[in-house]
Amino acid sequence: MAKSLNIGMIGYGFMGRAHSNAYRKVSNFFPLKYQPVLKAVCARNPENAKAFAAQWGYESIETDWKQLLRREDIDAVDICTPNNLHAEIAIAAAKAGKIILCEKPLAMNAKEGEKMVKAVEAAKVPNIVWYNYRRIPAVTLAKQLIDAGKLGRIFHYRAKFLQDWTISPELPQGGQGLWRLDSKAAGSGVTGDLLAHCIDTALWLAGPIANVSAMTETFIKERKHNLTGKVEKVGIDDACAFLARFKNGALATFESTRYARGHKALYTFEVNGEKASLAWDLHDLHRLQWFDHRDEGILRGWRSIHVTDGDHPYMGKWWVPGLAIGYEHSFVHQVADFLEGLAKNKPVGPTFRDALETQMVCDAVLKSGQTGKWTAVG
Ligand SMILES: NC(=O)c1ccc[n+]([C@@H]2O[C@H](COP(=O)([O-])OP(=O)(O)OC[C@H]3O[C@@H](n4cnc5c(N)ncnc54)[C@H](O)[C@@H]3O)[C@@H](O)[C@H]2O)c1
Repeated sequence: MAKSLNIGMIGYGFMGRAHSNAYRKVSNFFPLKYQPVLKAVCARNPENAKAFAAQWGYESIETDWKQLLRREDIDAVDICTPNNLHAEIAIAAAKAGKIILCEKPLAMNAKEGEKMVKAVEAAKVPNIVWYNYRRIPAVTLAKQLIDAGKLGRIFHYRAKFLQDWTISPELPQGGQGLWRLDSKAAGSGVTGDLLAHCIDTALWLAGPIANVSAMTETFIKERKHNLTGKVEKVGIDDACAFLARFKNGALATFESTRYARGHKALYTFEVNGEKASLAWDLHDLHRLQWFDHRDEGILRGWRSIHVTDGDHPYMGKWWVPGLAIGYEHSFVHQVADFLEGLAKNKPVGPTFRDALETQMVCDAVLKSGQTGKWTAVG
């Protein structure tokens, strides 16, 4: 019989729902030694917390995260709050000896992130950060192909993450739902929110980045702040594009914006190697595009692999070959891998330390955007 792992979740928004769904499903599809139990959800508003607990099956609620950390019946704390709360909660959770699952980006900046890494490593508590795109089967397959040497030497990495939801100057900043536009809550704009995902995947697939050269822009300079009611300066980057050199010599380009009219969440990446290339697109997430120069000349061309076969990553646990799964399953896979790591007493990435590396790239990008100079990472 599986051992219970009591989850205390802080925040019940978009990610609160995605994670709760993953905790509820994981044991049905991945038989593991641990089974998550939805013990408590924490939200400042008790009515909202009660409604969320009833809808998702949490046994209890808390309205103060500090009280949640005091509870002995909570084994693992899941941080699903805006970015400015990650560090304070994670450091306190580590001191309380809790297992920690923290949303991305790890922190507001690398300095804060370093304190978080120190805290979890000193307390020796298992920890992970929700860079969930790693666990979309087609992305995991890309990792397996690169690690098996099928691309050979990597020359190029190209990533973008495009949205269009902040184009209106009437859109306020701050508060519930709009904290991403408020630098005090978010830390940065598209760099920490969207490019952090692209950077995590890139570091995982192609190794460490040595230096970057970035341009950033804030197109709408002032917006009404929802919490103060006043028109205030906008402190986030609305758009960011940067060049990067990997330590292995590969060259990269990254681009993200919330001003690409027509794009809602277009995350794509392409990797070009000596022997082969691959490409992936979040809008077609169950496919991996593959070009292999070793194919017979007359048959050479891009092929579109439908990553749904039983021998593709994670897929043997789902339906029958040919049937696709979706975005939410990346969270289920992350929980499954994390629980397996717990059972084997092995860290599962991205750990806080892995996520700190992404944070250091983000910091270098933002610094380069300000100075206009090439900037070393770390
Ligand atoms: N992994 C991903 O793909 C992904 C996607 C979206 C968001 N995120 C990250 O998840 C985190 C949350 O984002 P979201 O989209 O779910 O935001 P959201 O606005 O939908 O939810 C945030 C939640 O935090 C709660 N909260 C705020 N302050 C709190 C406090 N002091 N105590 C308790 N609860 C508090 C809010 O009430 C809300 O329920 C962010 O760090 C974000 O970057 C990750």
